[in-house]
Amino acid sequence: MDFENKVVLISGATGGMGEEIVKQLGKEKAKLAIFARREEKLKELSDEIKSYGTECIYKKCDVKKIEDIKEAVKFTKETYGKIDVAILTAGVLIPNPIETFDASIIKNTMDINFMGSVYFIENLFPIMKAQGFGTIAVASTLPDKRGLAGWGAYGASKAAVSWLLESLRAEAKQKYNINFITIKPGTVDTPMIQNYERPGAVSPQKAAEFIIKGIKKGKREIEFPLIQVILIKLRNLFPPWAYDKIPVEMQKGGGYPNPKEK
Ligand SMILES: NC(=O)c1ccc[n+]([C@@H]2O[C@H](COP(=O)([O-])OP(=O)(O)OC[C@H]3O[C@@H](n4cnc5c(N)ncnc54)[C@H](OP(=O)(O)O)[C@@H]3O)[C@@H](O)[C@H]2O)c1
Repeated sequence: MDFENKVVLISGATGGMGEEIVKQLGKEKAKLAIFARREEKLKELSDEIKSYGTECIYKKCDVKKIEDIKEAVKFTKETYGKIDVAILTAGVLIPNPIETFDASIIKNTMDINFMGSVYFIENLFPIMKAQGFGTIAVASTLPDKRGLAGWGAYGASKAAVSWLLESLRAEAKQKYNINFITIKPGTVDTPMIQNYERPGAVSPQKAAEFIIKGIKKGKREIEFPLIQVILIKLRNLFPPWAYDKIPVEMQKGGGYPNPKEK
């Protein structure tokens, strides 16, 4: 796939990976529609993209608000007449320590990381079905198969994304010619992980390159970087008794909060 003149909707466009995807696709002359909550940053980014000689529209969109998502998709379709690709990267990473186990953290994370994508898919489907083509790529995470101490809310939301996309993939392709792509990044050096020590992180630029290349190649899953892919696949093979022997502090990683018991 060549991105020139393709209409691409991007959520989480102000984030580490989202912003880089926007810049790289702008240079490839895609027609962009970019969304996130920080309007000022969206405007700056849109102005930069227009200076590359392509189109870029933007609107504030909080993925916890169904109406915002509806409006984002409608705005894109009404402006450009079609939507070729949606790249959904909006997400949050919030620790949920066992000491202060709090269901509201899990609900908030599910609302943003999982339901935010679900509502986008619901609104994109009628447009892509009518067009007879489309690609929806959603950010999950590389470790989406096994739990990690302290990160259950995030992991559950991303496992849900991966599971949903895999459930939709074959049928959406066979019936409607819609491609679903699960983006599974390892550690990427973005604001999301700035408070945590994560060795081996790749740059957001490199991550955006992997993602764009994967979409162009029509991959079903985009996993990177290779060394982390291998390590996670090996870890996935551990039986539960061996998996539980991984030190909890190692699972949480450096920088994880140390709260007092509730
Ligand atoms: N960084 C990593 O190591 C890593 C690894 C695996 C997977 N991922 C996933 O990759 C995606 C991009 O991550 P990143 O590292 O680029 O994160 P980031 O730099 O923290 O950016 C997150 C983006 O999500 C947006 N966002 C957050 N809450 C939102 C809401 N309620 N409504 C709309 N937009 C919202 C933010 O924009 P506003 O604040 O302007 O709304 C921002 O654009 C995420 O889904 C993340 O879970 C990241």
